[in-house]
Amino acid sequence: MSVSYMTHPLIKHKITLLRKQTTGTNEFRKLIEEIAMLMGYEALADLPTADIEVNTPIEKTVQPVINGKKLAVVPILRAGLGMVNGILALVPSAKVGHIGLYRDPETHLPHEYYCKLPDAIDERQIVVVDPMLATGGSAVAAVDFIKARGGKKIKFMSVIAAPEGVSALMKAHPDIQLYVGCLDRCLNENAYICPGLGDAGDRIFGTK
Ligand code: PRP
Ligand code: URA
Repeated sequence: MSVSYMTHPLIKHKITLLRKQTTGTNEFRKLIEEIAMLMGYEALADLPTADIEVNTPIEKTVQPVINGKKLAVVPILRAGLGMVNGILALVPSAKVGHIGLYRDPETHLPHEYYCKLPDAIDERQIVVVDPMLATGGSAVAAVDFIKARGGKKIKFMSVIAAPEGVSALMKAHPDIQLYVGCLDRCLNENAYICPGLGDAGDRIFGTK
């Protein structure tokens, strides 16, 4: 598995604002979407292209366009939803799948409650999005589901990751490409990322 850590100052700046306890729901949603778009720009740098003929007002020319079956963006519910529009801003024709998982508050193990993926998933470039990669349990389970349904070309984008989550995902799925906005220090006793940003789902949706 390849792991890419984001170095762009705009991504770093926006992640810092996201972490602040005083950042409210509205701003948090906007920031998550913007970060997803900036990370998506980096993560999609290897999308295949094909040349087509176009007529400019001046002359006929052969130029590249994105090629192949449309992209599938797959958010892990709930918090991954906050990143979808950032990717769709870059690739508006992408299809969107959903994987519903929640972490048991006691065991911290992921439980599946929903999975719906676009058709021909085996032919698509899949981008799984979830702002938080903590123990890695949810990410590993999500990629398991996608592979069980035929998914092959998988990228995973997380805004903040703990070293434990990166290791778990690398070990379980060495064939995927992982993009991390910022690698944090560790997990606490409740398996929350430190320093992190708290509960991403609650901060996006204004729940507690
Ligand atoms: C959060 C987050 C990830 C998961 C990460 O979701 O969005 O999906 O925890 O933790 P892990 O790496 O230890 O599995 P949560 O289960 O809190 O659900 P929610 O998005 O519905 O709030
Ligand atoms: N899920 C979150 O939303 N935040 C964490 O720090 C860990 C898991």
